Amino acid sequence: MKITVINGSMRHGSTWHCMEAVRQELGKYDTVQMTEFFLPGDMPYFCSGCYSCFYNGESTCPHASATEPIARAILEADLVVLLSPVYGFDVSGQMKALIDHLCYMWMSHRPDPRMFNKIGLTITTTAGAGLAHTTKTLRNSLTFWGVKKTFSLKYRAAATKWDEVPAKKQIKIRRDAARSAARIARAVKNVKKLPNPLFRSFMFKMMAGAQKKNDWNPVDRKHWESQGWLSGARPF
Ligand SMILES: Cc1cc2nc3c(=O)[nH]c(=O)nc-3n(C[C@H](O)[C@H](O)[C@H](O)COP(=O)(O)O)c2cc1C
Repeated sequence: MKITVINGSMRHGSTWHCMEAVRQELGKYDTVQMTEFFLPGDMPYFCSGCYSCFYNGESTCPHASATEPIARAILEADLVVLLSPVYGFDVSGQMKALIDHLCYMWMSHRPDPRMFNKIGLTITTTAGAGLAHTTKTLRNSLTFWGVKKTFSLKYRAAATKWDEVPAKKQIKIRRDAARSAARIARAVKNVKKLPNPLFRSFMFKMMAGAQKKNDWNPVDRKHWESQGWLSGARPF
């Protein structure tokens, strides 16, 4: 199983340790080949809002040297994992900066069909609050990239570092990791047989309609045309 993990922090903190627990459990089901990125080290730029990715193609992004290896690893993975600690009730700024850079591959622009048979996982930890909102931000990207099914783990760690997470909570995290890993491994193995998410089918149909009338962005339109999606071909 190929896993791409994007850490919304440079720390091997509580969030990373939750993923480490999942990774160890996944290893019981399959050989795990993991590619890991840490932000902002691996992608230290804010989106400059130049629109070049949308209108000229993603390779023209001024930060393509940092975003392209991450996008490539996402496209090659079976399981895409987005991790973030809660910062100010949302994802870390560095995670949001990556999300912004990868909007070109949202369903509303140029969804990559390789995303349609992937499984997603989000993991968030907080000292006290903000888990739901942060999880939603991470899930939005996976959903709009078109992944088939997403799992989410979220914990009120009540701590600023892993060593301080109460022992009882660490046991619960490990127990959850074991349970989730079993479900994730099954989903990855059977991804093609999983039902198509209704929201994705709805979004795809709506965007195919919009792209047929698209006279504002030839790069997006060409992408949809070249997949055959504007002449009725369906990827799922
Ligand atoms: C800049 C910053 C902002 C934070 N904002 C919140 C917050 O809004 N709510 C909260 O309960 N904890 C907040 N925290 C605490 C972290 O979410 C919490 O300690 C988390 O488990 C850290 O994860 P890590 O060990 O993986 O870095 C914040 C921490 C930092 C450094």
